[in-house]
Amino acid sequence: MKEIILIIRPEKLEVLKSILDEKNCGGMTISTVMGCGTQKGTVEGVNEIKGFKTTINLLPKVRVEVVVEDSKVEQIILDVREKVATGHVGDGKIFIRNIEEAIRIRTGERGEKAL
Ligand SMILES: Nc1ncnc2c1ncn2[C@@H]1O[C@H](COP(=O)(O)OP(=O)(O)OP(=O)(O)O)[C@@H](O)[C@H]1O
Ligand SMILES: [Mg+2]
Repeated sequence: MKEIILIIRPEKLEVLKSILDEKNCGGMTISTVMGCGTQKGTVEGVNEIKGFKTTINLLPKVRVEVVVEDSKVEQIILDVREKVATGHVGDGKIFIRNIEEAIRIRTGERGEKAL
C-alpha cells in the first residue's frame, strides 16, 4: 500500500476527487493548507513589487491524502498530470510513501481489505 499526498490548487479539488472516485479509492483525507514551492510564493505581477524585497509568501493550497493499493499509483499520477496541471507554476506536487498497515476499526480487517 502507498500513501499518495497531493498538494494542489484549491480550484482543482473537484477534478481530483473525480479521478480518485473513478479509481475506486476507498477514502481520502483533505485539508486546506498554506504553502510555497521554489518560487517562495511569488505570483507574477502581483507581489513582485519593484525594489521591495519580499520574504516567503504562503499561498492557499489543498492537501489530499489517499492510501491505495500499489497497482493504482501510476495511473493516478498520469491522470493527475493530465487533468490537474495548468502548465503554470504552482500546479502542486505529489509525494508518495509506503504504508505498512491499515486497519478498519469497525471490523478489524487489515491490509488492502481495510482500504
Ligand atoms: N519540497 C516541498 N516540501 C513540502 N511541500 C512542498 C514542497 N514543494 C512544494 N510543496 C507544496 O506544494 C505546493 C505547490 O508547490 P509548487 O507547485 O509551487 O512547487 P514548485 O516546486 O515551485 O513547482 P512549480 O515550479 O511548478 O511551481 C506548495 O505551496 C507547498 O505547499
Ligand atoms: Mg512553485
